[in-house]
Amino acid sequence: MTLIPTYGVVPALGYGTFMRKGDECLACVDHAVNVGYRHFDTAAFYENEVEVGQALRGTSVAREELFVTTKVWFDHLGKGQVRASTEASLERLGMDYVDLLLIHWPSPNDEVPLPQYMEEIASLKAEGLTKNIGVSNFTKRHIDEAIAVVGASEIATNQCELNVMFHNEPIVTHCQDAGIPMTAYLPLAKGAASSGGELERIAKKHDATAAQIALSWLLGKGHIAIPSSSNLERIEQNFRAADISLSPGDTMELDALNGDRRVQPAWAPDWDVA
Ligand SMILES: NC(=O)c1ccc[n+]([C@@H]2O[C@H](COP(=O)([O-])OP(=O)(O)OC[C@H]3O[C@@H](n4cnc5c(N)ncnc54)[C@H](OP(=O)(O)O)[C@@H]3O)[C@@H](O)[C@H]2O)c1
Repeated sequence: MTLIPTYGVVPALGYGTFMRKGDECLACVDHAVNVGYRHFDTAAFYENEVEVGQALRGTSVAREELFVTTKVWFDHLGKGQVRASTEASLERLGMDYVDLLLIHWPSPNDEVPLPQYMEEIASLKAEGLTKNIGVSNFTKRHIDEAIAVVGASEIATNQCELNVMFHNEPIVTHCQDAGIPMTAYLPLAKGAASSGGELERIAKKHDATAAQIALSWLLGKGHIAIPSSSNLERIEQNFRAADISLSPGDTMELDALNGDRRVQPAWAPDWDVA
């Protein structure tokens, strides 16, 4: 049986649901539960909370065994809106609480002051709408400001772009120094980290796939990974990545794959470069 460790309070491997919608979402989430995933990552922005909730409520796995994350989009960071967004998410999910509630992106250009929305999200935890709170796409400055408001130990994770081809070192080191685990989104670099000479060579040694090696590299670094796939076989394959133990030599070779490819939506903050 594949055992998934917990990094801080978050199960280290989860199923990402971005782009999964309708019947496909229902089938993928149901299959993910059946192969063993207990951690599911959704967001108000993904417009699939209804399906994610329906699929999870339809399984025989008890709610307490699941770890459900949702996120508040940056257009809902104003006063009272973090609460409104969260209540709407819970309604769509058909759940009384989520396990982790994230600020999806910091407010662009600090339109809404960070202390205001961090205080509001913390109050939602105090009221039990979420078991834990965290952040996503926060830079070093945002992390420091968030720590000043809620304390580092309250921030369950910073979910950022991170994979074997993009190590995102400045924010990773900063969060690790503060004791905040990183969650890797785009853990397979949108599929780019599922092939390539080095990954495939190491995969062969472990009788694994290149994608499994890419995920195993993340887990070995202490990062939570939330790969997505629309393919039932790959959903299971990704979960079994937790069975692989890379040698220090494998890890060193994979470390050399680091590059600087990253997503840059219009609302992104100025990323840390050092
Ligand atoms: N916080 C944020 O701002 C943020 C941003 C982006 C994403 N996320 C979260 O992170 C999750 C993962 O990110 P992502 O879905 O964008 O990227 P990803 O997981 O890096 O890549 C998904 C892509 O990889 C392919 N793939 C998956 N498993 C594979 C395998 N074993 N072998 C070969 N190809 C494989 C999938 O194709 P197939 O479907 O054909 O398998 C899909 O095209 C999202 O679902 C979402 O929950 C968060």
